[in-house]
Amino acid sequence: MKDSKEYSNFDRKENLKIASKVVHGALGVDPATGSISFPIYQSATYKHSSIEKRDPYNYSRCINPTREELEKTMTILEEGTRAFAVSSGMAAITLVFSLLRPGDHLIMSDDIYGGTFREVNEVLEVNGISHDSIDLSDLDLLKKTIKKNTKMIFIETPTNPMMKVADIEKISKIGHEIGALVVVDNTFLTPYFQRPLTHGADIVVHSGTKYLAGHNDVVAGIVVVKDSQIGEKLEIQMYIYGAGLGPMDSWIMLRGIKTLALRMDKHAENAMKVANWMRKQPKIEKVYYVGFEDHKDYEVTKKQTTGFGGMISFKVDSTKTVNNILSRLKLILFAESLGGVESLITHPVSRTHTEILEETREALGITDTLLRLSVGIEDADDIIADLDQAING
Ligand SMILES: Cc1ncc(COP(=O)(O)O)c(C=O)c1O
Repeated sequence: MKDSKEYSNFDRKENLKIASKVVHGALGVDPATGSISFPIYQSATYKHSSIEKRDPYNYSRCINPTREELEKTMTILEEGTRAFAVSSGMAAITLVFSLLRPGDHLIMSDDIYGGTFREVNEVLEVNGISHDSIDLSDLDLLKKTIKKNTKMIFIETPTNPMMKVADIEKISKIGHEIGALVVVDNTFLTPYFQRPLTHGADIVVHSGTKYLAGHNDVVAGIVVVKDSQIGEKLEIQMYIYGAGLGPMDSWIMLRGIKTLALRMDKHAENAMKVANWMRKQPKIEKVYYVGFEDHKDYEVTKKQTTGFGGMISFKVDSTKTVNNILSRLKLILFAESLGGVESLITHPVSRTHTEILEETREALGITDTLLRLSVGIEDADDIIADLDQAING
């Protein structure tokens, strides 16, 4: 097991801009060989040097050099003290929820990834951890919902799929007054556009499957913490759960992250064009996109992010239009997930948000005429042409 102090070796990269940090990672170059592509250390175990010495590497469930390079890279990018790379975004969220105990109370965004919602309902509630799901863009509501035993506030911002925005700084202040941990799912914007720990949050989680990896070729999750003591608690949990990301998948993540800046800029540029085009379409009734100046929380977005990301949800006039779109699209693929170079479209009611009760979904606006588009990095004109022929064709 590595002493956590050793994780400060890489602060020499702190002064670089984020577009340089993503390219150069933590060590960047393999210290053993000089290899510029960080090696895939495909080993389950490591030879001890002697009985007296505690070697840094012992067993790959606990520590692996390729995973460690990814974890340190994510620590640098999110400006935390420690990161954990695990086998999926849900494993990352499960690791964070392991900090809660029976009798604790959790507050989370009402409009949240369906898998998180399912874990809270089917695992946490069963284990005596109660929760309230609320609109976290409403700070008065948050204050009213807080209980004596509230121990964690779990924010998704922007939310999936309704693109609601929560003020990380203000929520962190409220949370810290009552001693609660503030966790942000930063999957949609990545540290390239939003760094929640710098706005007061305690923990960041990611589905690394999405923008971080960026090529729809790996399932992974990341947790980054600000406080090293929380890092130590999570380290033990990580060894117990044994969900550490394998070396090959860690390498795929590292390779994806190298182009994060370029990709995020292109996703964001394309999404702005597509969202503006969508607004002019008679068959599209509403477009949910955080880059619109008339978005309710545009000012919060401007304050805490440096870009709007590549996600758009939109409501069409009928289920017939939904069917037309999903059956006619050629370039844009009807598939779950998001954040890859390919544009993907999904139907939250029948795919990503099936776990949420119908009445709750309806109240949130997640209806059968809602679609969610992850705008890829193709030419924006081609994406718009594909949508045009599918909607109006
Ligand atoms: C915002 C968000 N968080 C977490 C997850 C879960 O990630 P994974 O599928 O990698 O387990 C997803 C998956 O879609 C997501 O969209």
